[in-house]
Amino acid sequence: MGLEANISMLAPGLRGMTAWLQNQSPQIPYSGVPVFPTQGSDMARNVDYLYFYLVAVTVFFTVGIFLAIFYFAIKYRRREDDEVGEPIHGSTRLEIIWSVIPFLITMVMFGWGASLFYDMYQPPQDAMQLTVVGKQWMWKVQHATGQREINEVHVPVGKPVKLVMTSEDVIHSFYLPVFRVKKDVIPGRITQLWFTPTTTGTFHLFCAEYCGTKHAGMGGRVVVMEPAEFQAWLAGAPAGETLEQAGARLFKQFNCATCHEQVAGARGPALENILGRSVELQGGGKITVDETYLRESILQPSAKLVAGYENVMPAYQGQISEEGILQLIAYVKSLTKEERKAAQK
Ligand code: CUA
Repeated sequence: MGLEANISMLAPGLRGMTAWLQNQSPQIPYSGVPVFPTQGSDMARNVDYLYFYLVAVTVFFTVGIFLAIFYFAIKYRRREDDEVGEPIHGSTRLEIIWSVIPFLITMVMFGWGASLFYDMYQPPQDAMQLTVVGKQWMWKVQHATGQREINEVHVPVGKPVKLVMTSEDVIHSFYLPVFRVKKDVIPGRITQLWFTPTTTGTFHLFCAEYCGTKHAGMGGRVVVMEPAEFQAWLAGAPAGETLEQAGARLFKQFNCATCHEQVAGARGPALENILGRSVELQGGGKITVDETYLRESILQPSAKLVAGYENVMPAYQGQISEEGILQLIAYVKSLTKEERKAAQK
C-alpha cells in the first residue's frame, strides 16, 4: 500500500483529533488540558476525577520511589573497599505500614471505579432510546420516533439517552470521548450505553475497535441540541414508522401472535412484561430475559427453550435484519408498557 493511501486512511482520525482540540472549553475544569476532550456529561466529570486520582497516585509513588533510590544510593554508598553493610532483620511496623497504606489506596480505586461502573451500566428508566447498528463501515441510528441517521446522532441536552446496539458483521465499539463512554458493539449480542449530555455542541464519535480497512473512517458526530431545537429537528426529519410500529408490523408479518398469545395453552410464552423477568429453561437452569436472549430466541428458538413449551418455533435466522430485531424488541417492550398502563387504570 502506498504512503498516500496510508495517509488518507489516517486523515479521518487526525480530523477527529483536531475536532477534539477545537472542542476544548475553558470554563469546565481541566478541559483546558490539551489531551482531554470537553466534559460533555456528568459521567465525564466523574470519570476524569477518578482518572486524575489514578495519575496522582502513580506520580506520587513514581517520584517518591525514585527520590528514595537516589537518596539512599548516595547516603549508603560504599566508602571503603572492604566496607560491609550492617545486617537488617526487618521491621514489622514498617511492613504493616507499607501494606496497609497501599491497600487503602487501591481499595479507593476499586470502590470508586466500581460505583462509576454501576452508574455507567444502569441506564435510567426514563432514558430516551435510540437503536444503533454497526456495520463495516458505518453507524446506522434510529430514533424511537422513527427518524433514521447514518454516522450522526442528534440528541437533546440534559436528558438521559440510551443506545441499544448490535452489529451486522464484526465487533465494533461505539466511543464518545466527550461523554467518556465506550461500549463494544458485538454481532449476536445486544449491548447498551447511556449518557446525559450537559453541553450543546457537535462532538466526535469513533469506532474504537479495529474492524477492517476503513475502521479509521468509521466515525461520525453527535449533535447535542437545546430541547426545543431538537424537537424542531425531529419534526423536520422524515420519520416514517416509529420503532414500535415497525416492530408491530414485523410481529404481524411473521405471524408471531399466532403462538405468543396471553392465553392458557398457548404454544409460545406470552411476551407481555417479559423483559427483565427470570424464566425457567427446559432441562433446568434459569435465565433473566434481556435483549440478547430475545434476539437469540427469534433467530434460534431451540437454543434456550422456556420450560413447558415445545420446540415448534421456526428459526428466523437470515430472515430478519439486525435492525428488524431491534424493532421487534422495541415492540415487545411496548407490550410491557401497555400492560402496565392497563394495570394502573
Ligand atoms: Cu467499526 Cu472499527
